[in-house]
Amino acid sequence: MIKGFIFDLDGVITDTAELHYEAWKSLADEMGWKFDRDVNDKLRGISRMDSIKVILDHNKTALEESKLEELATKKNDIYVASLDHMTPEDYLPGAKELLTHLRAEGFSVALGSASKNAIKVLQQLNANGYFDVIGDGNSVSKSKPAPDIFLYGSEKMSLQPDECIVFEDAESGIDAAKAGGFHSVGIGPEDRLGHADLRFDTMAEATLFEVKAHFKELFS
Ligand code: G6P
Ligand code: MG
Repeated sequence: MIKGFIFDLDGVITDTAELHYEAWKSLADEMGWKFDRDVNDKLRGISRMDSIKVILDHNKTALEESKLEELATKKNDIYVASLDHMTPEDYLPGAKELLTHLRAEGFSVALGSASKNAIKVLQQLNANGYFDVIGDGNSVSKSKPAPDIFLYGSEKMSLQPDECIVFEDAESGIDAAKAGGFHSVGIGPEDRLGHADLRFDTMAEATLFEVKAHFKELFS
């Protein structure tokens, strides 16, 4: 029986995936690194430090850890500054409606994000009230594809993983949901999220009606 939902933030609730892209692109241009949207897709769901390592691997470059941290901080400063322009109008289409619907029906709802900036993003969106539990990049040490962030959410909601549905836009996020024994909904293209239990191209199609129709035996 489904009693709870766990949402990734970036690329599910709001389009910060695009802001992350712009911030990494700006750093990459300054450093003379190759970086494009295909590489950016590999960064979905993974931590800041893992992300910079993926970018360096793509450029067949290595740097010492302290330099990596300095550059990751530089990217983060650009990203955080861009969040100042985010407003409660910046939910992805359908996200606010789904969260409102879940609240109205009394489901437990958790955030399960790898971002250390999740609190700031929720504040900008005025979204805190939709969540019973906030799991972010500060809540656990192992990031996706490890299931830890989702297990943190289910535990805090006092639910078993198979009582929860995870919403994710990242390949590593669906891997994490599966590793933890959660049901999963992928938001994005088949080639990235074909392994999710259910997939929608965008959040606009991910209504509670559709989700219940797909997982019907788990809602009765
Ligand atoms: C999310 C995004 C990733 C990002 C990670 C860490 O999971 O999908 O692209 O790298 O959070 O974000 P942060 O805000 O802590 O740098
Ligand atoms: Mg995401």
